[in-house]
Amino acid sequence: MRAISPFCTVLLSVALGVGGVLLGSPAAHGQQTDPHGSTDAGHSPSSRLSQDDIAKMLPPTDMGANAAREDHAHLPAIDDSPATPFDAASIPANPLAPQADAIGAKSCVACHAQENVQASHTLHVASFRAGAANTGPQAACESCHGPGSAHAKDPTAPGLIIAFTHDAKTPPQVQAGVCLGCHAGGARQHWIGSIHQNRGLSCTDCHNPMARLSPEGVLAKSSINEVCATCHQDIRAKFNRRSHMPLPEGQMACTDCHNPHGSITRPLLKTDTVNETCYTCHAEKRGPFLFEHAPVRANCLNCHDVHGSNQQTLLVAPIPMLCQQCHTMTLHPNDLQSAAGLGTGPHPDERLIGRGCLTCHSNIHGSNNPSGPKFHK
Ligand code: HEC
Ligand code: HEC
Ligand code: HEC
Ligand code: HEC
Ligand code: HEC
Ligand code: HEC
Ligand code: HEC
Ligand code: HEC
Ligand code: HEC
Ligand code: HEC
Repeated sequence: MRAISPFCTVLLSVALGVGGVLLGSPAAHGQQTDPHGSTDAGHSPSSRLSQDDIAKMLPPTDMGANAAREDHAHLPAIDDSPATPFDAASIPANPLAPQADAIGAKSCVACHAQENVQASHTLHVASFRAGAANTGPQAACESCHGPGSAHAKDPTAPGLIIAFTHDAKTPPQVQAGVCLGCHAGGARQHWIGSIHQNRGLSCTDCHNPMARLSPEGVLAKSSINEVCATCHQDIRAKFNRRSHMPLPEGQMACTDCHNPHGSITRPLLKTDTVNETCYTCHAEKRGPFLFEHAPVRANCLNCHDVHGSNQQTLLVAPIPMLCQQCHTMTLHPNDLQSAAGLGTGPHPDERLIGRGCLTCHSNIHGSNNPSGPKFHK
C-alpha cells in the first residue's frame, strides 16, 4: 500500500481525467486504513466524486443513436450536438396537456410515495436522480411522464399525465415516443412500421421500468419467454411438444431468433433469411457441401417446424412421408407402403424399417464424400 504514494495517485488522477477519479478513490481509501500512512489526503472516499463526476460517468441518454449514423456518410446526422447527458434529459411534451409545466420529482413523490419506493432503485430513476442533483427541477419522473402541473391540479382527470398502461388515455404512439426519445436506433431501427407497432403495442407491453421484475432488460415479466407468452400462448405451447429446442429449459429465448422491436425480415427475424438464423447456432449445416440437398439450401422449414413438433427432430411430417412429399418417381418403387412392409410383416421393406429412408440416405443435409451424391455418406 505504501508503494502507492499520494503523489502517484495525484499524477494518475490527472493523467486519466475522469477515469482517474475512480482509480483515486480506492487509493485514498488505502491511505486511511494504513496505520503508518499519513492522513493528509484529507477526503473521505465518497467526497472525491462530485455530482458532476457522477453525471459525466452516466451514459449518454440518446444511447449513441447518432454515433451509429456517423459511420454512414449517406445518412444525414439528426443532430450534430453531443449526446444529451442524464442531467439534461428532456421532458417530453404531452399532447393532451399542452399547457402543463414541469413541477419536479419532489412534488410527484409527495403524492406517489409507494411508486417512489418501488422505482427509486431502478436504473432510470436512480440515474436521472444522480444526473439531475445539481440542476433545475428534478426530472426523475417527468422525463418519462411529461410535465405534471396540470395533473397535480386535477389528478383524477385522465390524460393530463403521460400514462403507460394499455387502458391509459395517452395514445400508444405518444407512450412509445417518450421511450424512443432516448432509445431510437440500434435494435429499434425498424420499430416504426414493424408488426408490433402496427398492431398498437407500446414499449410498456413488454417493458416495465418502474419496478425490477426481471434480471435484465427491465421487462414486464421475469423472463423474455414469459413476456412473449402473454400474447403468443400458441407458440409458447408448441415448445412443450415432444421435440423442441431447449427454450422451456431456459437455454434459449424467443429473441435468439426474433427481434421484437422490428426487423426487415418477416416474421421479425434477426437475420436476412430463415437459414441464416439457423446457421447462427447450427453452423455445420451451412456447408459448403460437395453434394447439396436442394430443399435444405432453400429453406430449413421445408422439413422442420422450429417452434416444436410431435415428430422426431422437429420434422413437419414423419418419415418416409416427409421425403415422399417431393420424391414420388425415384429409382425405388415409391408405392404406398403397406403393413406387409413393416419390420413385423411378411415382406419387410428397408424404406419402412429402422430409420426409414435415413437408414441409407443418412447425410440428409448434404454430403462431402466423393461417393455421396445420394447422401449415403
Ligand atoms: C396532488 C397529488 C398528486 C401529485 C402532486 C401527482 N399525482 Fe399522480 N396521481 C395522483 C392520484 C390521486 C392519481 C390516481 C388517479 C386515478 O386513479 O384516477 C394519480 C395518477 C397518476 C398516474 C396514473 C395515471 C393514469 O392515467 O393511469 C401517473 C402516471 C401519475 N399519477 C404520475 C405522476 C407524476 C409523474 C407526478 C409528478 C409530475 C404526479 N403524478 C404528481 C395524485 C398526484
Ligand atoms: C423510465 C421511465 C419512467 C420513469 C423515470 C418513471 N416512470 Fe412511472 N411509469 C413508467 C411506466 C412505463 C409505467 C407503467 C408501468 C406498468 O406497466 O404498469 C409507469 C407507471 C407509473 C404510475 C402508475 C402506476 C399504476 O399502477 O398505474 C405512477 C403513479 C408513476 N409511474 C409514477 C412515477 C413517479 C412518481 C416517478 C418518479 C419517482 C416515475 N413514475 C418515474 C415509466 C416511468
Ligand atoms: C431520458 C432518457 C431515457 C428515457 C426517456 C427512457 N430511457 Fe431507458 N434507458 C436510458 C439510459 C441512459 C439507459 C441505460 C443504458 C445503459 O446502461 O447502457 C436506459 C436503459 C434502458 C433499458 C435497458 C436496461 C438493461 O437492463 O439493459 C431498457 C429496456 C429501457 N431503458 C427501456 C425504456 C423504456 C421502455 C422507456 C419508456 C417508458 C425508457 N427506457 C425511457 C435512458 C432513457
Ligand atoms: C414485444 C415486446 C417488446 C416491445 C413491444 C418492446 N420491447 Fe424492448 N425489449 C424486449 C425484449 C424481450 C428485450 C430483451 C432483448 C434481449 O435481451 O435480447 C428488449 C430489450 C430492450 C432494450 C435493451 C437492449 C437494447 O436493445 O438496447 C431497450 C433499450 C428496449 N428494449 C427499448 C424498447 C423501446 C424504447 C420500445 C418501444 C419503442 C420497446 N423496447 C418495445 C421486448 C420488447
Ligand atoms: C401485447 C401482446 C404481444 C406481446 C407481449 C408480444 N407480441 Fe408478438 N405480436 C403481437 C400481435 C398482435 C402480432 C400480430 C399478429 C397478427 O397480425 O397475426 C404479433 C406478431 C408477432 C410476430 C409475427 C410477425 C409477422 O410478421 O408475422 C412475431 C415473430 C412476434 N410477434 C414475436 C414476438 C416476440 C418474440 C415477443 C416477445 C419478446 C412478442 N412477440 C410479444 C402481440 C404481442
Ligand atoms: C430457433 C429460432 C426461433 C425461436 C427460438 C422462436 N422462433 Fe418464432 N419463428 C421462427 C421462424 C424461422 C419463423 C417463421 C416460420 C414460418 O414462416 O412458418 C417463426 C415464426 C413466428 C411467428 C409468426 C408465424 C407463426 O407461426 O405464427 C410468431 C408469432 C413467432 N415466431 C413467435 C415466437 C415466440 C413467441 C417465440 C418464443 C416462445 C419464438 N417465436 C421462438 C424462429 C424462431
Ligand atoms: C440460439 C441458438 C439456436 C438457433 C438460432 C437455432 N437452434 Fe436449433 N437447436 C439449438 C439447440 C441448443 C438445440 C438442442 C441441441 C441438443 O439438444 O443437443 C437445437 C436443436 C435443434 C434440432 C434437433 C431437435 C431434436 O429434437 O433433436 C433441430 C432440428 C433444430 N435445432 C433446427 C433448427 C432450425 C431449423 C433453426 C432455424 C430456424 C434453428 N434450429 C435455430 C439452438 C439453436
Ligand atoms: C429435406 C428435409 C430437411 C431439410 C430441408 C432440413 N433438414 Fe434438418 N433434419 C432432417 C432430418 C430427416 C433429420 C433427422 C436426421 C436423423 O435423425 O439422423 C434432421 C435433423 C436435423 C438436426 C438434428 C440432428 C443433426 O443433424 O444435428 C438439426 C440441428 C437440423 N436438422 C437442422 C437443420 C437446419 C439448420 C436446416 C436448414 C439449413 C435443416 N435442418 C434442413 C431433414 C431436413
Ligand atoms: C421439399 C422437397 C423435398 C423433400 C421434403 C425431400 N427432398 Fe430430397 N431432393 C429434393 C430435390 C429438389 C432434390 C434435387 C433433385 C435433383 O437434383 O434432380 C433432392 C435430391 C435428393 C437426393 C439425391 C437425388 C439425386 O438424383 O442425386 C436424395 C437421395 C434425396 N433427395 C433424398 C431425400 C430423402 C431421404 C428425404 C427425406 C428425409 C428427402 N429427400 C426430402 C427435394 C426434396
Ligand atoms: C436400403 C437402402 C435405401 C433405402 C432404405 C432408401 N434408399 Fe433411396 N437410394 C438407395 C440407393 C443405393 C440409391 C442409389 C441408386 C443409384 O444410384 O442407382 C438411392 C437413390 C435414391 C434417390 C435418387 C433417385 C434417382 O433417380 O437418382 C432418391 C430420391 C431416393 N433414393 C429417395 C429415397 C426415399 C424417399 C427413401 C424412403 C422412402 C429411400 N430413398 C430409401 C438406397 C436406399
